[in-house]
Amino acid sequence: MTSLPTAVDAAATPEEGTRAAVEDDTTYRALVARLSRQSVDKHFDAYADVDWDAPDHRIDPTDPRWVHALGDPLVDTDWFAALPAADQARLGLNLVVVRMKLGLQFENVLQRGLLDYAIDLANNDPEFRYAYHEIIEEGHHTLMFQEFINRSEIDTRGLGRAELTAARAVVLAARCFPELFFFFVLGGEDPIDYVQRRSLRGQAELPPLLERIMRIHVTEEARHLSFARHHLKRAVPALGPVRRTALSVALPGVLGVMSWMMLGVPSEVVRAFHVPRTALLQARRANPQARADAVRKVRELADELGLVGPIPRVLWQVAGLV
Ligand SMILES: [Fe+2]
Ligand SMILES: [Fe+2]
Repeated sequence: MTSLPTAVDAAATPEEGTRAAVEDDTTYRALVARLSRQSVDKHFDAYADVDWDAPDHRIDPTDPRWVHALGDPLVDTDWFAALPAADQARLGLNLVVVRMKLGLQFENVLQRGLLDYAIDLANNDPEFRYAYHEIIEEGHHTLMFQEFINRSEIDTRGLGRAELTAARAVVLAARCFPELFFFFVLGGEDPIDYVQRRSLRGQAELPPLLERIMRIHVTEEARHLSFARHHLKRAVPALGPVRRTALSVALPGVLGVMSWMMLGVPSEVVRAFHVPRTALLQARRANPQARADAVRKVRELADELGLVGPIPRVLWQVAGLV
């Protein structure tokens, strides 16, 4: 039995309320069990399912296909257009590599948080099995990303020490304030998923190794996103007024930071390639809605759950996410 409280219509009679709660609980447990089964039916191993040594999987830093791999607006700037072709390809590969490092660091935090969340779950709670499937899948994603980084021979660091230390608070939230943690999860997974799906759908030809990694990733992330969303739909309506207010005020900040991290031009790339401020501004102005589009689904979920009142709405605007 899950430890989560269940939302009950205040106007319902006790019997109706109890029945609705049982039905709600049964539906949720069935959904989580289905996600767990899907994790068994369709899952990938970082080494068995990626042919790392295939000739066309070799990472060539001069391959022009890196330029449009992630659809980054920086590659559409005048500054970028003036670079020699070899530098353009190298910068494109650097963007991919640094984003993979940030992605695996995010997944590390997510795994630690899920482990902490699962330790409190009761016997027979279907969330326990599902959480472990997700932790294992994220482990394989991390192995894929790190193997790609190693083979690129680009020595990226990703997050700084202060940011990695601050991430410990997120792990703590998984146990103390799971609703905030699962919104953090969506804040990282939704923008990555958005960028990867856009690249896979786009016209630009992708290097086959990157395409393979992204296809594996979006397939498994669909389950992770589904779990986080359903968990929140069930848990948030049962929150008391203090936690609900805290969550609604914290969300624009959490998603603002996450979308900057996942979509902004990483500072490592800015430093390594001496990207001028004018190019960064041009890239930002070319699509001012980029971050808002990437977190649109999370914002709509927050709205649906009644977390975007008048004051939070201003905060969403200040964070540039509307
Ligand atoms: Fe992942
Ligand atoms: Fe995930």
